[in-house]
This record gives sequence, structure tokens and C-alpha cells, in this order.
Amino acid sequence: MKRIHPSGPIAGTVRLPGSKSITNRALVIAALASGTSRLHGALRADDTKAMIDSLNRLGVAVYWDEGDLVVEGSDGRLGTGDVGIDVGGSGTTARFLTAAVTVRSGQVVIDGNRRMQQRPIGDLVRVLGQLGAAIEVLGEADRPPVKVHGPALSGGVAMLDASRSSQYASALLMVAPYADTDIILELQEPVVSRPYIDQTIEVMETFGAQAAWDGPTTLTITTGGYQSRDFAIEGDASAAAYPLVAAAVCGGTVKVGPLPEGSLQADLGLVPILERMGARVDRQGDTIVLTGHPSSLSAVTEDMNAAPDAVVALAVAALFARGTTSLTNIANLRLKESNRIDALVSELSKLGAEVTAGPDHILIASDDLRPAEIDPHNDHRIAMAFAIAGLRIPGVAIGDPDCVAKTWPEYFTMLETIVTPLVVTIDGPGGVGKSTVSEALAARFNLGHLETGGMYRAAALAVLEAGLDLEDEAAVAELIDNLKVGIDDGRVMVNDRDVTAEVRTEAVSAASSRVSAVPRVREALVELQRRWVTKNGGGVVVEGRDIGTVVFPDSPAKVYLTALPEVRAVRRVRDLGLAESDIPRIAAELAARDERDSTREVSPLRPADDALVLDTSSMPIEEVIDAVARFVINRAPGE
Ligand code: DC
Repeated sequence: MKRIHPSGPIAGTVRLPGSKSITNRALVIAALASGTSRLHGALRADDTKAMIDSLNRLGVAVYWDEGDLVVEGSDGRLGTGDVGIDVGGSGTTARFLTAAVTVRSGQVVIDGNRRMQQRPIGDLVRVLGQLGAAIEVLGEADRPPVKVHGPALSGGVAMLDASRSSQYASALLMVAPYADTDIILELQEPVVSRPYIDQTIEVMETFGAQAAWDGPTTLTITTGGYQSRDFAIEGDASAAAYPLVAAAVCGGTVKVGPLPEGSLQADLGLVPILERMGARVDRQGDTIVLTGHPSSLSAVTEDMNAAPDAVVALAVAALFARGTTSLTNIANLRLKESNRIDALVSELSKLGAEVTAGPDHILIASDDLRPAEIDPHNDHRIAMAFAIAGLRIPGVAIGDPDCVAKTWPEYFTMLETIVTPLVVTIDGPGGVGKSTVSEALAARFNLGHLETGGMYRAAALAVLEAGLDLEDEAAVAELIDNLKVGIDDGRVMVNDRDVTAEVRTEAVSAASSRVSAVPRVREALVELQRRWVTKNGGGVVVEGRDIGTVVFPDSPAKVYLTALPEVRAVRRVRDLGLAESDIPRIAAELAARDERDSTREVSPLRPADDALVLDTSSMPIEEVIDAVARFVINRAPGE
């Protein structure tokens, strides 16, 4: 179980892991090629390990050398002899190698984990069969394991149903340069995830093969094999989805790369969608720069056929968008590492979203989100995407976080480098209920809590005890410079003395308002408050007068509580255990303090422009707490 800390604005640069789909394509092609290839920037994760281990078992030498993958090409042979390989959960390894080993002498049994034995492979077996390959399906209902009897791959025309997975077409394309004659591949529509086919062709061409579209559904591949290359692999666009969505939903700016301008990676299709939702996107060379505006994200309707792996991340972004997001043409998501449509319905619903799904679409809306423990269904993309939901919804935890190792073992470490602790700011006049609300909120969301009034009160107590004239700013400032003020577990400390009770007197209240108007005092205490938050790590609730306007102006969750002076006076009198006859006097004192706090020159009491302003005069406290909690998740005042 991994608890996710909520985040404020995102800030950082992410060096993406190498593209999984390009790494596994380049590995198969380099293994078939003549000569030794070097792959720079290759992905090091479970899925590429499955491919490397499988190629080694087949008899092809593939190894890491100073961060590069070295592949000693087999000149179209891929080793010889009978062998069994276990691809674990790697779909590309299962599909690509089933096709590739048709040119190899010997029998190869290809098997995988339980989920792999549920993922279909029959369409690929049939198209290879049309070209003379001899493949037995050993599993039930067209599922792995399969047994390939090679070598046998003639040329000619073959028809493929490409509606379930583009990986079948890619698998056949990559082995085709080693067929006896040219291959003409006719794809039956609809062709799913077409950009992945273009990606395959691009890598094939880099290694010297000829493959091209001869019409919207026809591909021609010329025989002639591959030659080895030194090949630089782009960052993984599917992986980029998570930091990009993080900035889109939390605000701030993230930079991700390397993703070259002309990249064919299918999941880059997510970038213009996030722009349509309200994020700003710029490019700096090979780097994509996304700046989010979390309170103005709007829902979208998108056909996701061309960017299937981005759907899970986009579904999480949709949680925080205004309106109903509709993602269509996604039937093949049911055949991924998990049944992703079902997994999304169950996990998004746990967070309070309204989700409906059909065979090939999903509709997502949300009104009242709440934290939950997420079951990633052993699917790396579900785990990675819902961790982003946890950056907005405090209290989310991810079960089985290690499943991210399939494509990004360092995922959670990366997240830590781009998040900033969430600071919820609660400002408002005295007696308005800031402390009650802050404490309840901190408890509900498991956040730290800092009551900054205590610091000003501590300073005031020290000034009174030293017998200084409150009007003598220089003397007050000098005293504060040499004072050790701290808030420790809710206790107010002055020079290591616990003064929690002493600072609550009416005399200290009045003096604190004066002392807090001295600029040097504010400077010192603001610095102390910022340091306290940094040291505390995770998220925090900070209450005071100027927290949203001055101390943490970048906070995405600023709250300003107000209430009529008479109402606050009643609350104060109750809190301090005073008599009802004290109400008018306390009301007058509060009014005088409000006046001073709001009209002082430095950091006057006022709501930040983007604060949620709540008049709590006639609201029960539970209602106030719920409204603030909802705002912390929605981060949009007025909702
Ligand atoms: O919240 P409180 O009543 O304990 O605050 C005591 C005084 O401290 C209040 O009159 C104004 C001042 N204060 C401030 O100026 N800035 C803050 N962030 C918190 C308190």
C-alpha cells in the first residue's frame, strides 16, 4: 500500500524512461539484423526485460553496456534448436516473437503469465498461417501458449483482422523482411491504434528495411533483411501522460522529454486533448512544457482509438474537469494488462465519480470526490494514473504499487521530484472558527496543522514580559530577532518554554494584534512559518490572517472565513468560558482588532483574489468543514 501525499502546483523536469514500444521493436529488429547494434536510451523495466531474456533464450546475445543495450544480430536466424520462452506479462514480447521465430530453425513454445493466457493471439496465428508458418495454439480459445515450428515464412498476400490489436500487424511487419518473397498485408477495417503501425515502419526503415502503406489498408514489405544500427530511443509518450496530467490537474508547470517534434508515438495524442481541456502546452526542442490551470479544466469528448494507452491517465484528468467526459472507440482496452474499462469503472467510482461504460466507451463525471484505496488490478497504468488522482484528493492510497515496474520502476521516485506539498490556507478574523475548521480538516485528510496566530501571540507575550512599549517598533523588532518562537505539536513555545495557556489571555490578544503590525516581526515569523511547512513534509493546513495573500500565495486551496462580529463574540465567549454579559465587550474588542488587522500597512487581513470566501455566521460547523474539504479537492472557488 502506498499513501499518496496531496500536491500543490507541480514544478519540475521529468526525464522519461525510454519508449517501451520502440525499445521492444528495436530489440526484435536488431536481433534479426546482421551485425551488432547499440540502443541508446532504451527502457529498463519488466516488459523490456521479458524481451531481452526471451531473445537470450533463443540464442541471441543481448546485454546492457553502460546504459546502452547491445544486440548481436543473428542475420535472420534468431538462434536454432527447440526452446521454451516465458514472456511473463509482456504482450509485445508474446506477439512480436510469435511472428519473429517463424524464420528460426526449431520449435519454440511461447507462454506467459495467467493474464497473458487470457489475451488473444489467434488473429496473429492465422495471418502467419496464410504465409506458410506452422503454429499450434496450445492454450484455450485462441490464447497462448503457442508452439511455432520453423523455419517457414513464404511471401505473398495475407489478410489480417486488425480490429483488436495493432500489435499483430506490427509483429508480422517486423519479420516480413526475412520472408521468402515480398509480403502484401491487407488489413480489415477498423484498424485499431494505427500510429503504432507507423511507429513500427519507422524503426524498420531505420534498420534498412522497406515497408510502406500502399493505400489506407494495404502494406507492402520488401524482403532484404535489416542491417545493424546505433539507435537513439525517444522517451516514452505513454509514460509522459502521468506527469503531464499531474500538472494539468494540480497546476504548475512540468517539462517532459526527450520527445522529438516529429515523434510518431501514438500517445502524444493526449497532448492536444489536455490543451482542449484547458492546459497550456509549449515546446522547447525535444521537451514538452505543460502548464495547468486546475480550476478551469473542462470535459472533452474524444475518440481514443489512436492513443489507447493514454486513456487511463485521461480518465483521471476527467475526474477534475467540469462536465461529462466521453471517451469512445476503446473496446481494445478490455484486452490490456487488465480489463481497463472495468478497472476504471470500479476505481473511479470508489473516488466518488459517476462512471458509466459500454462495450467500447466510458463516460466520466464527478461532483463530490472522496479518497479511497485503489486496487490497480495488477496494471501499471492504473497504478500510475490513480497516484495522480491522489495528488488532488488527499488520502488516496495505491495497493500493490510495485506493479509500476512493468514500464517505469522509478515512477514514485519521479513523482516526488515534481510535487510540492499541498498547503491549505485558512485566513479570517478572530473567533471565526479557523482553528476548529483547520483541525478537523487536518484530521480528515491526514495533513499537518500550523496555527500562526500562536506565533504572534508568543511574540506579544515576550514583548509584554520584557515590559517594552508596544509603540517602540525598534525595540520590539530587536527582541523578536533574538527570540526562539516555535509551534511544536500544537504547543506554543518561547525559548523552549511552553506558553500555550498564557498566550490565550485577552491582554496578549490585544498586544498580538499590535505586535503583528511591525514589519520586522512579520518578516521573522513568515520565514519561520515557511520553514515549518518545508520541514513538515507532506501536506499542511496553515491558519492565520495573511497565509493565502502573503505567506503561501501559490497555494491552490485558499480559504477565507468570515462571520458577523456578534456571532464571533458569542463563539469566543463560549470558548473562553466567559459570562453572557461579556458578549458586548468581546464583540467590541474583536471589532477593534479586525479594524487594526485589516487596515495595517503590512499584510492586512483580506481574502486572496482566488480564495473561497465563506460567511459562516449561520452555518453549522460541520457544514463549513464539508464545504472547505470539497473545495480542497475541487480547487475552484464557487463550487
Ligand atoms: O488567530 P489569533 O487570534 O490567534 O491571532 C492573534 C493575532 O495575531 C491577530 O490579532 C493578528 C495576528 N496574526 C497575524 O497578523 N497574522 C497571522 N498570520 C496570524 C495572526
